Amino acid sequence: MTELNKIALKIISNGKGILAADESNGTMTKRLEAVNVNSTPENRLLFREILFSSKGMKDYIGGVILYDETINQTSSSGKSIPELISNSGAVPGIKVDTGAKNLANSPEEKITEGLDGLRDRLKIYYDLGARFTKWRGVYSIGEKYPSKLAMNCNAHALARYSALVQESGMVPIVEPEVLMDGNHSSEVCLKKTSEVIKKCFEELILHKVDLSGIILKPNMILAGNLSKNKISSEEISLKTLECLKDSVPNEVPGIAFLSGGQSEIEATENLNFINKNNNTNFIMTYSYGRALQQSALKVWSKDIKDSEVTQNIFNHRAEMCTLAAQGKWSIELENK
Ligand code: 13P
Repeated sequence: MTELNKIALKIISNGKGILAADESNGTMTKRLEAVNVNSTPENRLLFREILFSSKGMKDYIGGVILYDETINQTSSSGKSIPELISNSGAVPGIKVDTGAKNLANSPEEKITEGLDGLRDRLKIYYDLGARFTKWRGVYSIGEKYPSKLAMNCNAHALARYSALVQESGMVPIVEPEVLMDGNHSSEVCLKKTSEVIKKCFEELILHKVDLSGIILKPNMILAGNLSKNKISSEEISLKTLECLKDSVPNEVPGIAFLSGGQSEIEATENLNFINKNNNTNFIMTYSYGRALQQSALKVWSKDIKDSEVTQNIFNHRAEMCTLAAQGKWSIELENK
């Protein structure tokens, strides 16, 4: 077993999942302003530190993805943030892409940037304690989209990123996110997501990336958010499994889904069905941002100094997601 494979398994084994707390300052500002909290570096740290020091971290969270601002911050106890996370038993991770920009010659689509100078930035993050990283490619579904151009260049960037990350001794999370925006059917989502993921692996293999030392972070297979033909959790799980079985090489140790705009309960229930029906060798867990933090953020905004109620909400959410990652979640446990 390689060192990278060991790190990947430490993050996602035994029902543990990933807390994606890597919102850029722009995105975090939107989230905080939506609940009437000022988006200052202190407030961003305050909320995140409350999550990172909650009891649920030890039992449920195997890894935390940080943003550049947070990985450089110091907790109220004087420990660095990566230290606080490591002390809970979770692995600190870092988002290293610098965001999605309009793609030249297909400006309705995006290409993720951040490769220039990446090798040097990775060294700094490793020294700060990070042992895994994230890079998100984003694709929208439309009649002509995602185009071959968007699929090729995002897969190329994800592969170059992954090779550099492994060279630096860290595990890359490969995140090709096919957005749920639109009125497309789940069949279309299945077809396009399969194409996107296959292209990614073609490039990862070309770039000699060790597939046993990555974690794939895909979307689930859903009908578009504007579609009238929504499908059940059971169908979502079967289509998602069909897609991944067909497009992900066996060496990949695990898959950690993004929540992508699903509600907390939807993201939990769908993951639960995926694990109940899992007929693959892949570990199937979560790497949720909104679906782990939404309720906690709402409650916290009412009194930002009261950490206890926020932590209770977060602990419950993380526990439910971890049950779902083992196919053991139920609505009764949810409402208990
Ligand atoms: P969501 O779970 O809110 O989609 O966030 C996950 C993530 O890391 C997106 O890049």
